[in-house]
Amino acid sequence: MRSETATTAIALDEVSVERGGRRILRDVSLSVEGGTTAVIGANGSGKSTFARLLNGLVQTSSGRVRVFGLDPAHDTRALRGRVGFVFTDPQAQILMPTPAEDLALSLRGRPRSEIGLRVAAILDAYGLTAQADTPAFELSGGQKQLLALAAVLATEPDLLVADEPTTLLDLRNARRIADVLLAQTVPRVIVTHDLELAARCDRAVLFDDGRVVAVDEPHAVVAAYRRMCA
Ligand SMILES: Nc1ncnc2c1ncn2[C@@H]1O[C@H](COP(=O)(O)OP(=O)(O)OP(=O)(O)O)[C@@H](O)[C@H]1O
Ligand SMILES: [Mg+2]
Repeated sequence: MRSETATTAIALDEVSVERGGRRILRDVSLSVEGGTTAVIGANGSGKSTFARLLNGLVQTSSGRVRVFGLDPAHDTRALRGRVGFVFTDPQAQILMPTPAEDLALSLRGRPRSEIGLRVAAILDAYGLTAQADTPAFELSGGQKQLLALAAVLATEPDLLVADEPTTLLDLRNARRIADVLLAQTVPRVIVTHDLELAARCDRAVLFDDGRVVAVDEPHAVVAAYRRMCA
């Protein structure tokens, strides 16, 4: 078995996931130390299943998953707060009625005097100051996605996993979210059909029918994906 340290962000060894008698992940082995990893591949190829293994939302049928040396399916409490997860549908993760309240929730536990200042600074950084007290359901799709990402990043996770964070967005907001994601320093895994975003990552992983079929610098992997779809 491969040696690894608790600092290895992600280590999968021969992971399979079966659902309803079907193997939806097949012998996936992958290790991520840092930087930005794009995960690409066709609909139904297993990308979201892979992402959900990392926060314990999906359990393995065989093989081993480690995130910072811990098992996400069992060490849920120890990993809580260390893995930030951004979903495609931002509405699903906006928990409070307004952006200001939602960000304050992410910052809970900090000194009260600090929270107000930080909320204001984050709203400003994400261009959401005018929407601070707007009902969250009235925000545009792009504003919701920015808020969802800002709220996750405000918790200062050690690993960021985003499942199609730009899918609902126009070009400007897709680039804006990409800029925010790529500016982070913690290891990031970005599941995406946005090949422009994938190309800007440090490496890419290609899934096909539940298997990892390529791990390389993104241009090579995107080219392999294009050939596969040709
Ligand atoms: N709980 C489940 N039970 C049965 N099958 C499932 C379950 N979850 C996912 N699948 C199947 O596993 C396969 C992989 O799904 P997954 O959501 O990981 O794909 P994906 O690569 O994220 O696709 P997309 O690009 O469309 O989001 C699909 O065929 C899906 O129908
Ligand atoms: Mg998916």
